[in-house]
Amino acid sequence: PNARGLDLSDLRHLETLAATMAEADGQTWQAAPIIGGAIPERAQSTLADGRGQNVPNPAQTDQIVGQVIHANDEDVEQALATTTAAFNEWSFTPGAERAACLRRYADLLEAHMGELIARCTREAGKNIADGIAEVREAVDFCRYYAVQVEDEFSGDTVLPGPTGERNTYGLYGRGVFVAICPWNFPLAIFSGQVAAALAAGNAVIAKPAEQTCLVGARAIELMHEAGFPGDVLAYLPGPGEIGAKLVADARIAGVAFTGSMPTAKKINRTLAERDGPIIPLIAETGGQNAMIVDSSALIEQVVADVVRSGFQSAGQRCSALRVLYVQTDIADDLIEMLSGAMAELSVGDPWQLGTDVTPVIDANARDNLAEYAAYADANFKTHYTCELNDAHDAGTYIAPRIYELDSIDQLGEEQFGPIVHIIRFAARDIDRVVDDINALGYGLTFGIHSRIDTTVERVLKRLRVGNAYVNRNIIGAVVGVHPFGGEGLSGTGPKAGGPHYLHRFATERSVSRDT
Ligand code: SER
Repeated sequence: PNARGLDLSDLRHLETLAATMAEADGQTWQAAPIIGGAIPERAQSTLADGRGQNVPNPAQTDQIVGQVIHANDEDVEQALATTTAAFNEWSFTPGAERAACLRRYADLLEAHMGELIARCTREAGKNIADGIAEVREAVDFCRYYAVQVEDEFSGDTVLPGPTGERNTYGLYGRGVFVAICPWNFPLAIFSGQVAAALAAGNAVIAKPAEQTCLVGARAIELMHEAGFPGDVLAYLPGPGEIGAKLVADARIAGVAFTGSMPTAKKINRTLAERDGPIIPLIAETGGQNAMIVDSSALIEQVVADVVRSGFQSAGQRCSALRVLYVQTDIADDLIEMLSGAMAELSVGDPWQLGTDVTPVIDANARDNLAEYAAYADANFKTHYTCELNDAHDAGTYIAPRIYELDSIDQLGEEQFGPIVHIIRFAARDIDRVVDDINALGYGLTFGIHSRIDTTVERVLKRLRVGNAYVNRNIIGAVVGVHPFGGEGLSGTGPKAGGPHYLHRFATERSVSRDT
C-alpha cells in the first residue's frame, strides 16, 4: 500500500505537524560532503567555524536556513575511490538485506516527517501539502522497490538446458552509479533515484541540486542510519561542475539524472565521448505539457484541474501544465472562470497552511521568469496575472499568469514556473493540435478533458507521451499507480515508480555450468 502521509483535515495530525514545525522554526541546518559515512575533516572544521555557504529561505531571502560546504576535487576523488572499492561486496549482498535497508529508510522518513517537511519548506519553498507529498513519495519509492528487490534481485533463476548443464540467470549491480538530483523534489526524487540504484546492487555517489543540499544531506544521514553502508553511498553537495566531473570519470557505471533537457543532452555527450565503458543514462527532464479541452468538458472541473496542474508547486514540476488548448466555443467562458479561480489563489509564505502558490526556487529562477513575463506581456494577450504586493519582494515570488497565443509557433522554451499559455482550436482541427503537440518533441504529461470517448481514444492513439491523464489534473503521479516518465526530449525512461525502473540500474548475468 502507498504511504498515507498526514491528513490536514484531521486535527490530531495537524497538531503533531504544528508541534514539529514549531520546533523547526528558527532552526538552522548544515550540509557537507559525506564520504565513507563521514564528513571529511576539512569540511567539519569549516562548518564548525561557520564558514560554510549560506542557504537562503526562498520565501524570505534574507533569512538563512543553514550552511553548506561544497565538495572539492579531493572529495570527488575520495568518493570515487571509496565507492569503487566497496561496490563488489555490496552487489553480492542478499536482495533481502538491501530490501530491509529500503524499508528501514522508509520507516525513518515517516518517523522524521515533520522535520523533513520543515526542511523542504524552508530550503526549497515547498508548501506544507507539497512537503507531506515529498515524504510520502519517498516512502513509496522505497517500499515499492523493496518488493521488487525481493522478487527479482534475490538470487538466480534456473533456466532450461540439456542434461548435464545447469543454467542460471540473475540481476546484479553495475558498479558506481552517479545520481544527479533536482531541487523541485529534493527528497522524493532524490530518494527514488538513490534508493533504486542502491537497491539494484550499485554503489552510489549522490549529487543534490545546488539549491537543496540541506534536504539531501538529511536523506543521506537517514539512509546510513537505515543500514546502507557508509562506503557504498557518498554525498557530494555543490554546483553542476561536480556532476560534470563525476560523469566524465571512467570509473562510473551509470548515471541517473533528473533536471533540465539541455543538461541531460550535455551528460549524454560527455558519456559518449569519454574513455571507458559504454554505460546507461537514465534521464528524466522537462516537458511542454499540454491539455486539450473540448466543448463537452465540464468547465468547473477543467478550471480546478488547470489551476492545480499549472500553479501548484509554483508550476515547478516537470509534469506541470504549460499549454492549454481550448475549443473556441467555450474558450471565453473558461478563461473568465479560470481568471476568477486565480483571483482566489493565495500566493505567499509556504510555512502558512493556507498557501496555494509558493515562491520559485531562487532569485535566478525568479529573474528569468520575470524576463519572460515581460516579453510575454508585450507580445501575447494577457488574460490574468495574480496580484503581488510589497511583502512578496522579500522572497522569490512570481505571479501566476495566463497568456493567450495565436499559434503554437509562438511558444518558446519551457518556462519552469506558474505560467500557462492558452491556444484556441476548432473541433475539426483536433488531429492537427495533437500533431503540433507531438512536434514540440517533448512527451512527458498530457491531459484531455472530453466526455466523448471516441475523441479521447483518437487523441491518445495519435499522441506520443509518457503520462496521459483523462478528465483530471496532470500532476502528482503516484508510485506504482502512475509509473512516471516521458519520451523524446522528456527523457529516456524507464519510468520511476514502475515495474522496469530497477532493471536499467542492473546488469544481467547468465551462468552455464557443466555438471
Ligand atoms: N512526478 C511528479 C508529478 O507527477 C513530477 O516529477 O508531478
